[in-house]
Amino acid sequence: MEKQKMIKALNDALAQEHACQIRYLTHAAVITGPYAQAVAGRLKEIAEDEEKHAAQLRERITALGGTPTMEVARAELIFARTLKEILEVNLKEEEKAITLYRSLLRAAQEEGEILYETIEEILQDEQEHKEELERLRE
Ligand SMILES: [Fe+2]
Ligand SMILES: [Fe+2]
Repeated sequence: MEKQKMIKALNDALAQEHACQIRYLTHAAVITGPYAQAVAGRLKEIAEDEEKHAAQLRERITALGGTPTMEVARAELIFARTLKEILEVNLKEEEKAITLYRSLLRAAQEEGEILYETIEEILQDEQEHKEELERLRE
C-alpha cells in the first residue's frame, strides 16, 4: 500500500477507536440489570484498551509523516442500554474491528516491523474483546 493510503487507512481506524472508546464508556454508564455493575467495570476496561489503540495509531501515523485525526467515526456510536443490546452492538463492532485490522495487517507488511507488530497487537486485543463479550452473553 502506498504511504498516503496507509496514513489514510490508519486515520480511519483512529476515528473508529475514538468512537469505540466513547461507545464503551457510554454503555458502561447507562447499563441496567442485575449484573450492571460488574459488566460496567469490564466495559470501562475495554474502553481503556481502545484508548491505548488510539494512542498506538497516533504514534504510527506520526512516524509515517501523517497527522493523527481528531475525528470520531459517527457510524460506530450506537446507543444501547440493556446487557443484551450492549453485548449485541459491541460484538458486531468488534467483528468489524477484527476485519479492519486483518486487512491493515496484510497492508502493513510492506511498511516495516513496528507498524506490523502494532497492528498485530491491536488485532489480538480486539479478538480478546470479542471473546470476552461472547462469554458475558451466556
Ligand atoms: Fe480497538
Ligand atoms: Fe475492541
